[in-house]
Parts: sequence; structure tokens; C-alpha cells
Amino acid sequence: MTRPLLLRGIRPYGVGDPVDLLVRDGVIAELGAQLDGTGAERFDGGGLVALPGLVDLHAHLREPGREDAETIATGSAAAALGGYTAVFAMANTDPVADTAVVVEHVYRRGRDVGLVDVHPVGAVTAGLRGERLAELGAMAASAAAVRMFSDDGLCVHDSLLMRRALEYVRGLGGVIAQHAEDPRLTAGAQAHEGEVAARLGLAGWPAAAEESIVARDCLLARDAAASLHVCHVSTAGTVEVLRWAKERGIRVSAEVTPHHLLLTDERLAGYDPVNKVNPPLRTAADTAALRAALADGIVDCVATDHAPHAGQDKDCEWSAARPGMLGLQTALSVVLATMVRPGLLDWRGVARVMSERPARIGGATGQGRPIAVGEPATLILVDPDASWTVRGAQLASLADNTPFEGMELPGRVLVTMLRGAITAEDGKVLC
Ligand code: DOR
Repeated sequence: MTRPLLLRGIRPYGVGDPVDLLVRDGVIAELGAQLDGTGAERFDGGGLVALPGLVDLHAHLREPGREDAETIATGSAAAALGGYTAVFAMANTDPVADTAVVVEHVYRRGRDVGLVDVHPVGAVTAGLRGERLAELGAMAASAAAVRMFSDDGLCVHDSLLMRRALEYVRGLGGVIAQHAEDPRLTAGAQAHEGEVAARLGLAGWPAAAEESIVARDCLLARDAAASLHVCHVSTAGTVEVLRWAKERGIRVSAEVTPHHLLLTDERLAGYDPVNKVNPPLRTAADTAALRAALADGIVDCVATDHAPHAGQDKDCEWSAARPGMLGLQTALSVVLATMVRPGLLDWRGVARVMSERPARIGGATGQGRPIAVGEPATLILVDPDASWTVRGAQLASLADNTPFEGMELPGRVLVTMLRGAITAEDGKVLC
């Protein structure tokens, strides 16, 4: 067992006077003013904000198959540095995570690295081909205990297959996370369909390609009484569809990415492929609607869609470049800039959208827990007044495709702790 640790003068959820928190055997043993903590190692919190460890429902760790872009080790390091204690690893690896063997491999590798809990997401369809269901039951029954299934990167566009998938996961207590994109409407698309794409001569990705699939899937989830999760919501229209569905009690949850909260398609003017992402950056009206929806709970949570790409796949002309952006190390700061600074969320709200809700949606018990006595010491300490300048080359990911390069962002994660073990401190990964 590790030595007890006394965190002095921290502010859980950024409210109230600073308190001390004693960690013993991986659990919050005491919480209160001026704790004794004799024999414990001491950490001076100096008024830092304490939050439950962040949970990312959507990251591409690229292992197995593209270890030149990211590995479970480097992705876990980026996650720990960004304040994450659990990450859901998407299934579009090579081989695809569509069998118990592959998801167990990812799960075990994550456990061996030990920096964050790595939850493999299982593919919905075999090989992501959209033709027949993958081995959902076997993945759920495996050591990885998969609960979230997604063909992310691709849409499960066949309505009957989507219906069957929803019916099936209901019995498994799981959720289908849909990449909502009608491929017929987006064939050849390179940018959000609108004025900017027209000006730049890029083929358009219409908002309706997302909204129509979300509407269809909400109806299918209603009929199956199953849980649907909508990945990377990007349009104001999708927010309205989600509002309609939630008002009717349909079991749908949704995520928004940091980049869709902050960036718009105006960024495309220089044709820099670092701004290419799927779904594409949209308009300022969309970012405003997404921020409001995250504040009022129509969009449940923030997920990074961390998508590292090797240089040869990204540093090329726009049409050939792969879509995707890094996100794990910058997510909290972008949420502070877009949601907390403008007064749309307080720290409790940050804990809700970046930890509690995603843990619940993904079924990650033991994560997203309150900062309270008897709970796992899985938490982070954040300096709310610090700021930092993003440099892709300095991020822990193997890739450097951050769209926030050179931006000064608020907030800095100083400590990440997973069940009492410090995994990252002051910009360095430990253990
Ligand atoms: O931009 C994206 N990149 N969107 C996706 O849905 C997939 C992801 C990837 O795997 O690179």
C-alpha cells in the first residue's frame, strides 16, 4: 500500500474555503479543515480547484495498427496530462476492435500502462463494413466488459442494422455511439456546406447529413427502448432534434468536442489541413448553439475525438489529408475558455460534463464519483488562474496535429490522481 497523502488547502468544485483531503489506500479517507495527517506525505494545494478525474468517451489511440500516430502508452500519457483518468478508445484500429480478442488486447495494454483506465469501444459492425453486426455479446462478456459500441469514423447507416444493434445492446446494458453522417449526402465532402466552402471551392458536408441520422436514430432508440449516444454533435439543428427526443423521454445522450465549441469554418481560409475534421468545423451560430446546449444539458458532455495522425497523413494537400485533431491535453482549457470564462458553466458544471455524465453514459463505475469520504481518490487539481501556450511538438502525443497551436489557453492541470496514485504532476507523467 502507498503512503497516505495529505492534499492541503484545495477547493473541491472551486467552491467554499480551502480544505484538506487525506488519501489512504486509494480512497478519500478524510476531508475537512486543518486535518492532522501525521505520517502522510504532504502536497500544498494552495487553493487549487479539485475535480473528479475527467472521463473521455471518445479518443482514437490508434493501437493496434497505427503506432506511428499514437500508442496506448502515448495516448494515456496525453490523457493523464490533460486531467483524464479514463478514456474510451475507439474501435477504428487495424485490426478493428470487433472481437473479444482485440478489445481484450486494448484493455490489457491500457491496464499495463496504468496511467488511465482504458475502456475499449467495440465496433458495431464486423470490420466497420456496415454489413453485419460484430460480436457484441462476446465483447461485452470479455475481460474488457465492453458497454459502448461504435463504428465511429463511419456511420451505421443501414437502418435495419442500426435497429438490430440498438435492440441487441439493450439486453447487454450497453449503448450505441453513433457517428451521425449520411454517407450519400457527404460523398466527396471536404468542408461544412455553406458560404465559406463555396468561397474556397470545397465540396460541402450539409448539416442535414448529421441531423437526419440523429432524428432517425432517436426514433429507432425509442422503439427499441435502447440507449443511443450521439458522437460529436456539430450543428444547431442536431441540438433541436435532441431537444425534441429528450422531451419525449427517448434515451439519448450526446457529446460535443472542444474544437466544435471554439472553432468555426472561417479557419479553413488558409487550407491548412490541421483544421480538417469530421464532422467539419461549422459556423459561429452552430458553436453558439452547442455552447448553450452544453450549458442546459441537451448536450450531455464534452468528448475530445482525439484523433492523432502521422505527418504523412496530415501534412499534405487539403483533399488528401485525414480528418482529425488532437484533443486530450487541451480539452479542459478549451472548456474553460468557451464555457467557464463566459459564465455558461461553473466548476460543478465542468465536473458534470467532463466527468460525471460521461462516466455514467459509458458505464465506467468508479469514475466520475463525488469528491467525498469513502470515494476513490480519482481526482485532479487545476490552477484556474494559470495560462499556457499550446505547442504541438511539446504535447505527449506522437502526432502534433493540434488546431490550437500557438493559442494561449486558460487553466492548467497540476495533478492527476487515479485511485490514490499520482499519474501526472506539473506537466510530467509519473509511474
Ligand atoms: O475527424 C475525425 N477523425 N472524425 C472521425 O470520426 C474519425 C477520426 C479519426 O479516426 O481520425
